[in-house]
Amino acid sequence: MKVLLLLCASCFLATSYAGYRDDDYVINTKYFPDDFLFGVATASYQVEGAWNEDGKGENIWDYLTHLNPAVIKDRSNGDIACDSYHKYKEDVALLKDLGVNHYRFSLSWSRILPKGFAYQINELGVQYYKNLIKELKDNGIEPLITIFHWDTPLPVHEAGGWTSEFVIDYYADYARLCFELFGDQVKYWLTFNEPKQTCEQGYGSGEKAPFIQSHGIGEYLCTHNLLRAHAKAWHIYDEEFRASQNGNVGITLDTPWFEPNTTSEADLAASERILQFMFGWYANPIFNGDYPDIMKTRVAERSKQEGFSSSRLPEFTQEEIDYINGTFDFLGLNHYSSYMISDMPEPEIGAPSWENDTAVLYWQDPSWTPSASDWIVVSSTAPTEK
Ligand SMILES: *[C@@H]1O[C@H](CO)[C@@H](O)[C@H](O)[C@H]1NC(C)=O
Ligand SMILES: *[C@@H]1O[C@H](CO)[C@@H](O)[C@H](O)[C@H]1NC(C)=O
Ligand SMILES: *[C@@H]1O[C@H](CO)[C@@H](O)[C@H](O)[C@H]1NC(C)=O
Repeated sequence: MKVLLLLCASCFLATSYAGYRDDDYVINTKYFPDDFLFGVATASYQVEGAWNEDGKGENIWDYLTHLNPAVIKDRSNGDIACDSYHKYKEDVALLKDLGVNHYRFSLSWSRILPKGFAYQINELGVQYYKNLIKELKDNGIEPLITIFHWDTPLPVHEAGGWTSEFVIDYYADYARLCFELFGDQVKYWLTFNEPKQTCEQGYGSGEKAPFIQSHGIGEYLCTHNLLRAHAKAWHIYDEEFRASQNGNVGITLDTPWFEPNTTSEADLAASERILQFMFGWYANPIFNGDYPDIMKTRVAERSKQEGFSSSRLPEFTQEEIDYINGTFDFLGLNHYSSYMISDMPEPEIGAPSWENDTAVLYWQDPSWTPSASDWIVVSSTAPTEK
């Protein structure tokens, strides 16, 4: 299986710095295999700006940052961002200057479908992406496209968003359109970027858009729909486009690494458990058909004790398991940091939460050095006897 290790922009800077050579100003790639894809990545809301230009519709970040600017610490927003909508040629020149040969960016669903649904296509938005793809290819840079990177169109959110099953079909319509419009030029597709963040922060802890706090319930519903939407997009590509376009469809997941605090059985089990709750939650259904057993057992047991008549973790039917199982051509993995893990006593039964379903304590050692972007990068994770 191919695993695509995706380096985010900030990580990339650290990488390129390490390989920087005074004499010729090129990135030293000699330690990487020939087929290593060097690249950087962005998300539409983070870079495009032009939030309401040329027919683009409103997404949840536009709407919610305008409604309540205080949701962002310094009250900034993505209205202009890096202005890449206007400056994409400059940005491609910068990529070329960096020496990368791949660029992962996301499509703004609301720029292509201003109302979120398939009945209205914004030709100017489509043209923007065609221009960007052409500019990249003219400069020898291969595009990798993320179909969805957190910017749900407002009308799709208002119709239920990611906690509603209908989103699967709306997303599938949008994904099919993307394959149709850009698939002759694009060979690497990512259905979603970091779904854990979209679902947990968006619908569980509610720290990020759409700021819904539904601990222990919303994030599981969101994930359940998102995984089925991913599978549907993969099947659409497989059945309708693969033969003519011959590309690859995967997903980008993110996970930290978890290091047990001691070699006790309880700590070893705890670090495996949190890996399953973070990474297995998404990877296991796609690579093996279903949620990890430890999640199924723990959430079902706690739900029962909390008084629910069924598990807060939804169940896949056998038909869905067969449909989702194996829906990947590659895996994209975003990795930022690591945590120490220790077991904790079973949290009291009360209000449900994903954190309490995991029942682990995690922390970072203050002696670990942060990267330039403040992520603590731990290069050696050999278990230490304590
Ligand atoms: C998923 O597919 C694999 C490979 O075909 C198979 O071994 C596994 O049992 C399937 N998973 C489930 C839950 O059916
Ligand atoms: C986890 O459970 C404890 C009780 O054991 C509770 O005080 C806490 O609020 C819960 N955590 C979350 C994030 O809900
Ligand atoms: C981690 O392990 C050390 C012993 O090696 C222990 O003193 C410490 O309390 C543990 N930390 C936690 C949070 O369990």
